[in-house]
Amino acid sequence: MENRFEHLREEIVKRIKESLTVEDIELIRNNYLSKKGILSQEMAKMRDLSPEERPLFGKVINEIKGLVEELLITRLTEIKDKVLLEKMGSEKIDVTIPGDSIRIGSIHPLMQVIEDLEDFFIAQGFEVKEGPEVESDYYNFEMMNFEKGHPARDMQDTFYIDAETLLRTHTSPVQARVMLEKKGDSVKIICPGKTYRRDEDDPTHSHQFMQIEGLVIDKDISFANLKDTLLKMVRHLFGNDREIRMRPSYFPFVEPGVEVDVVYTKDDGTKGYIEVLGAGLVHPNVLKMGGYDPKKFSGFAFGIGVERIAILKYGIEDIRNFYTNDMRFLNQFKGDLS
Ligand code: DAH
Repeated sequence: MENRFEHLREEIVKRIKESLTVEDIELIRNNYLSKKGILSQEMAKMRDLSPEERPLFGKVINEIKGLVEELLITRLTEIKDKVLLEKMGSEKIDVTIPGDSIRIGSIHPLMQVIEDLEDFFIAQGFEVKEGPEVESDYYNFEMMNFEKGHPARDMQDTFYIDAETLLRTHTSPVQARVMLEKKGDSVKIICPGKTYRRDEDDPTHSHQFMQIEGLVIDKDISFANLKDTLLKMVRHLFGNDREIRMRPSYFPFVEPGVEVDVVYTKDDGTKGYIEVLGAGLVHPNVLKMGGYDPKKFSGFAFGIGVERIAILKYGIEDIRNFYTNDMRFLNQFKGDLS
C-alpha cells in the first residue's frame, strides 16, 4: 500500500511542478482533490479495509491531500507572479532605444539672405513691406517714371499677362504703393520679393529671381545717407574691411543713379568688382506721383539682387541651383533653425 501511495504522491508532485498556467493548476485540483477526484476515490476504498488498516490508510491519504493542497497554492502563486513579471517586462518602455529620426527641412539660402538683411534693416529702423507679384503696368512702370513707350522699358523684358497686367519685373513698384499709403509721411522701408523677366536661363540668368527694394524719404536726404547705408550693409554681409564701388548708371526712377559693386580680391591678387545692386536719389517725378513735394522731401532708393549676394556669399557657380530643388545643393545650407 505504502508503495502505491508513494507513486501517486510522486506523480502529483511532478505534475504540479510541470504545471505552467492557472488552468493547469485547476485541472490538477479537479483531478485529485475534487469529490470525484482520485484521492476521494482512494478514500472510498477504505470501506473495504479491515478496521485495523483504516487509520493508517486514512492518515496517508490525508497527508497527501494536505501536501497537494499546499503545493498547488505555492505553484499557483509562482505562476501568477511569473505572468505579472512577463506582462510588466513586455510593457516596459525602453528609453535607451534610439527614437525615429525626424527629417527637418532647412531655410532656403535665398531666404537666409533675405532674413539676415531684414534683421539688419529692421535694426536701422526700416519697416518690411510687400507688394503683389502680378502687378499693373501702372505701378511697375508708369509710377516709376517709365511712361508708355519709354525706351528704358526695353531694359526689362517683361512677361505681360495683358496690356495692363504683368509679372513685376522688379520690386520697385512697391515704392509707389507705399508712398501712396503713407500719404506724405516719411518713409523708411525695405520690400523683399520675387521678380520675373523674360530671360533665357543660363548660369547667370534666371527668368525668376529675388530683389530687396529699399526706400527712404524724408527732409534733407542726401547721397551721403545712401552711401552710408549701403556700405554698412555690405560690411554686415561680407566683413568690416569690405569696400564698394559706385558707378554712374541710369534708372528712370532715380537721379542720379548708380550701380554698386562689391570689391573683392581675385586669386591672382588683383581687384575684382561684382555688381550687387542699383540705387540712387529718388527722381522728383516719382516723388510727385507718390504725393511728395520734391522741394520739401528728398529720398534714396536701392534694389538689391538677392541671388547676387547669395552667389558671392556662398561661392555658387550656377544661379539655376537656387530653383531646381536638388537636395544635394540645398542640404549644404542647413544651418541653425532656431
Ligand atoms: N529696379 C532696378 C532693377 O530691377 C533696380 C534698382 C535700381 C532699384 C535703382 C532701385 C534703384 O530702387 O534706386 O534693375
